[in-house]
Amino acid sequence: MSSPTVTVDRARLAALVEAERSTYTSSHPRSAALYAGAEHLFGRVPMTWMNMWSGGFPLYLDRAWGNRVVDVDGHEYVDLAMGDTGAMAGHSPRATVEAVTHRLAETGGITTMLPTEDAEWVGAELTRRFGLPLWSFTLTATDANRWAVRIARMVTGRPKVLTFAYCYHGSVDEAFAVPGPSGEAVARPGLVGAPVPLSETTRVAEFNDLAGVEERLRHGDVAAILTEPALTNIGIVLPEPGFHEGLRRLATEYGALLMIDETHTFSAGPGGATAAWGLGPDILVIGKSIGGGIPSGAYGLSRAVASAAMSHDDADLVDVGGVGGTLAGNALSVTAMRATLSDVLTEEAFARMIALATDFTAGVQQTLDRTGVPWSVTRLGARAEYRFVSPAPRTGSESAAAADDALDEYLHLFMANRGVLVTPFHNMALMCPDTSPDDVARHTALFAEAVDALVP
Ligand SMILES: Cc1ncc(COP(=O)(O)O)c(C=O)c1O
Repeated sequence: MSSPTVTVDRARLAALVEAERSTYTSSHPRSAALYAGAEHLFGRVPMTWMNMWSGGFPLYLDRAWGNRVVDVDGHEYVDLAMGDTGAMAGHSPRATVEAVTHRLAETGGITTMLPTEDAEWVGAELTRRFGLPLWSFTLTATDANRWAVRIARMVTGRPKVLTFAYCYHGSVDEAFAVPGPSGEAVARPGLVGAPVPLSETTRVAEFNDLAGVEERLRHGDVAAILTEPALTNIGIVLPEPGFHEGLRRLATEYGALLMIDETHTFSAGPGGATAAWGLGPDILVIGKSIGGGIPSGAYGLSRAVASAAMSHDDADLVDVGGVGGTLAGNALSVTAMRATLSDVLTEEAFARMIALATDFTAGVQQTLDRTGVPWSVTRLGARAEYRFVSPAPRTGSESAAAADDALDEYLHLFMANRGVLVTPFHNMALMCPDTSPDDVARHTALFAEAVDALVP
């Protein structure tokens, strides 16, 4: 076994990136040409994040089924990115496609501002899985977070949200904070167009730091602690033993609500980390995958929060009070959620996906142990992620400090040039119901090859 202090030679890394870039460019002429010709798109892409793709231009999608993606140059990939969780149910899952097609082509009525029978079924299923008794639907996790934060402010009469450094909850203004020099909330680097200074809306602590959380709560102005069960947007940062029990206790003690965002941590099991780890949120948010790719999201409320909200006679919950949206809860979205939850993201599917992610993680760890590169790999149910630091970070700030764009680009391009897609925003791999043991083995072999080329 090699020394655990092996370091990456940056000149060698730069040369490897160059070689992978050149292969990528020459083997994707059609994607390159479409990107070059996109004269009417802001940043040349339909949505600016698509420029996160490594190699200078994104792959253009031709088609995708299950865990396979085919680009416009005719290359087929094992997809481990799964639309950064939006496609955790697999691409175009059969049951969802059938239900949605029925609504689109047979019954009609995509969006009517009228409820359908499916909605109560989905609400009951979300209650069975996550425990919260009352649900409202959105089209994105961002919206679910935004609307639920408003409700939290209203029912507590407090102005601020407590978040964790380097969290991500969608484009929720309050959540883009990192701790400043004396612990106050300041905007994270690169934040676009903040409406007001973050210190006016937010208190920010480090994940896994209960003393820091308590200190922020002592001000008495926090409406809700908003957190993922584990941070998943700055690598995966797992909670330490006792952290969640502490959050629940402190929230109750200081009169704040506990708001859990399960959008990514749904990977932990059919009821997310909330069910897997016995969490007790007052509000729960979920989005992305529950509609099998059709825009869908939801927030769940405890009875206490719901009745406190309803008791505000002055609150306009049914029109333009800031909670709700014209297309939210539409018939297409709700039927997609019903089909996906009943037939695709089932308990059996999760058991298979989690077993595969366990194998994936063991495969990566084997290479880390054999080569001695000082990286770590962390798993959360059906997702896993490698990070360029060891041991695995315990806070968002520690994890942010381990970011390495050149290594990201190298690994993404190495994999893509050999038929495997890893999430462009991070080194995340997500299993879906269609992922097979052979797909995982393929990644394991490529990861070993990529690291061997880097530290020969
Ligand atoms: C934990 C979490 N919450 C919310 C969101 C926002 O999801 P969307 O962009 O679909 O609104 C994300 C997106 O990455 C997320 O990771």
